[in-house]
Amino acid sequence: MSPHVHGVELHQWSADAGSERVRNAGGNVEMAVGDFFDTPAAGRYSAVVGNPPYIRFQDFAGDSRAKARAAALRGGVALSGLASSWAAFTVHGALSLQPGGRLGFVLPAELLHANYAAPVRRFLFENFSQVDLVLFEERVFAEAETEALLLLADGYGGSTNHARIRQVTDAGALTIDMPDAAKWTPTDPAAKWSASTVSPEAAGIYAKLILGGTFTALKTWGETTLGMVTGNNKYFALSPSRVAELGLLSSDVLRLSPPGSSHLRGLEFSTRAHNELGSAGKRTMLFRPASDPSDAALAYIAQGEVDSVQTAYKCRVRKDWWRVPLVAKADMLLTYMNADTPRLTTNSAGALHLNSVHGIYLTPEHRKVGRELLPVAALNSVTMLGAEFTGRAYGGGMLKIEPGEADLWALPSPAVVAAAREELLAIRPQVAGKLRNGNVLEAAKLVDDVLLVRALGMRRPEVAEIRAARAALAGRRESRSRRANS
Ligand SMILES: C[S@@+](CC[C@H](N)C(=O)[O-])C[C@H]1O[C@@H](n2cnc3c(N)ncnc32)[C@H](O)[C@@H]1O
Repeated sequence: MSPHVHGVELHQWSADAGSERVRNAGGNVEMAVGDFFDTPAAGRYSAVVGNPPYIRFQDFAGDSRAKARAAALRGGVALSGLASSWAAFTVHGALSLQPGGRLGFVLPAELLHANYAAPVRRFLFENFSQVDLVLFEERVFAEAETEALLLLADGYGGSTNHARIRQVTDAGALTIDMPDAAKWTPTDPAAKWSASTVSPEAAGIYAKLILGGTFTALKTWGETTLGMVTGNNKYFALSPSRVAELGLLSSDVLRLSPPGSSHLRGLEFSTRAHNELGSAGKRTMLFRPASDPSDAALAYIAQGEVDSVQTAYKCRVRKDWWRVPLVAKADMLLTYMNADTPRLTTNSAGALHLNSVHGIYLTPEHRKVGRELLPVAALNSVTMLGAEFTGRAYGGGMLKIEPGEADLWALPSPAVVAAAREELLAIRPQVAGKLRNGNVLEAAKLVDDVLLVRALGMRRPEVAEIRAARAALAGRRESRSRRANS
């Protein structure tokens, strides 16, 4: 018997195209043109399939947003204003199933990790006896911004404590003979599922380290916050030679970590490094006159007004448009966009920083050991794997880490770092040397030996498992970007 298919689509053209596809595949179709959320979830279907739109609730018109939210609430899922439409479609789709029914949805990879999707993750575990996910190494929809995955949930009305995860190259690899699934059992069904994308062995070792307290969230060490926003870096960030040319006084400028973060790939941002960057013409000074601008500063402000610098939104909202709101000098700087892995650098130059990097302010009790050793201790494979879980893959294969994500990033605990102090100090020059040569993985091997193997007693095969998991996640990021650029 050919399947009977009821469809709902907002646009006539897409409805017609969809109907034709169902007919070509041998189904009988009844297509309604209208809003999916106007179709009551009657609990009558044996399967629901869909490729819902991914639109942020913020961008939803009032009425349709209210309808979508109400539909999700009927499934017990409260969605925040940050949620995207697919979340409500998924819940409404599930509620349309009869007991034992199946759901097949194309969803964005946000399902795995977005905070707003936590109630959807919980909903799936609590309402299906089987949850399968298929992830793709390469982008499935070249034109879409987001990465897609397949959610296949079966046994509506049941429940489960784990998801089965498969990874395939691309949509062409979706066959009956798919690779074996990794089983992922989160401690909390709403928790992020990103860790699910690594081997169960690596996920297990990682979980043990976190639960055992040898690795703790970065927020245990201190606070991570955004850097300064000038409103116009070209105007406010100046090279020392430009400062001299303008005749600015030392009271008109402050020491600055220049825009970008390529200079923060070592362990320390020293006064010497700061001076060298300045001599090389980098913009290591922030124009930020003290209460009484010098005559040269007044002339530069007047020039800024001729050039309309003051019209930029960030400048316009200030009492004095040229007075950039300062942040305190950070103990450490954390790179924001990363091709390989996020870097922590001790800010011994005492430079201020812009929002191209984040500032870390260590708590008084951890300041000394943190400033001395956290950048070197952070270069271990567990922390590098943690960065892949915590951060987000961004355009160009970059790993982006926001302050709120950095808070949760797994770093060796203060006790572990303090206990390994002597050995970490001993390898620090060698690690710095490897970093200077751009060899972060070699640097991490040195730190792994000291911290993971000698201090924590991890077995070498365990370290290798963690390293392989990190390499696989970083490789996925990179292969996706290569694909997007080809
Ligand atoms: C990502 S596209 C998928 C298109 C098509 N289903 C496919 O698989 O090729 C999302 C579709 O959902 C439709 N849509 C958006 N909001 C809708 C709503 N509230 N009710 C029904 N369809 C909607 C859009 O018109 C669009 O065609």
